Amino acid sequence: MQYEVVLPAAGSGKRMGAGQNKLFLYLLGKPILAHTLEVFERDDRCTGIWLAVKPEERAFIERMLVEYGITKVKGLPDGGAERQHSVHSCLKAMEQVSIVLVHDAARPFITHDIIAHLVESAHDYGAAIAGVRAKDTMKKVSNGIIEETVDRESLWMVQTPQAFRFELIVEAEDVAEKVGFLGTDEAMLMERLGHEVRIVESSYENVKITTQEDLVFGEAILHKRAL
Ligand code: CTP
Ligand code: MG
Repeated sequence: MQYEVVLPAAGSGKRMGAGQNKLFLYLLGKPILAHTLEVFERDDRCTGIWLAVKPEERAFIERMLVEYGITKVKGLPDGGAERQHSVHSCLKAMEQVSIVLVHDAARPFITHDIIAHLVESAHDYGAAIAGVRAKDTMKKVSNGIIEETVDRESLWMVQTPQAFRFELIVEAEDVAEKVGFLGTDEAMLMERLGHEVRIVESSYENVKITTQEDLVFGEAILHKRAL
């Protein structure tokens, strides 16, 4: 089953503290953004890539597409102040498709298997997102004091990709923009409208490169996969 993917890439990488967009940092000789793009370039089911970019970074990214042989990019619209705005900017630029995935450009280790499960699930149920079970004991804390120990069985740490039937996510994003609701992921926007969102069990390797330690972890994953 085919899909198009939206990759928000217009962040600043403040928590990485590298003084530049973290997506331009290298993991084993290749920029993080190029690693992510290659996953979708090589997935036969992916028929189009939409990248939200900062206007001042567009020319640099276009050169990167040529250097790494990325041919599926259909548009590079301007990103916005928040990640949700960047995603919205891509959705507005797209033609109607059946299934759209939203995936953080900062998660370069996503696999074709997980993507396929998400796409199938979104096709069948409307919305499906990647997640992993919480590993640690989880506590709810207020002002430095534990309020309760939350039952871990029901807790998942969610990731991207988040996959949707196109018209559902467009509706959810439009409503969110109209009422000024800002979510931390796309699923939240669907949940608000009462849409069921499925979880697809993903991998702990599908990390979002956020802080310096993640670069070390990321290179370790690449080494392991090269064995
Ligand atoms: N992103 C975006 N537009 C924004 C903010 C973020 O397109 N206004 C993108 C980032 O480029 C990244 C993804 O959304 O690929 C996930 O965001 P995050 O990991 O938070 O990246 P940054 O916002 O760049 O990092 P930080 O929050 O540390 O500044
Ligand atoms: Mg951010």
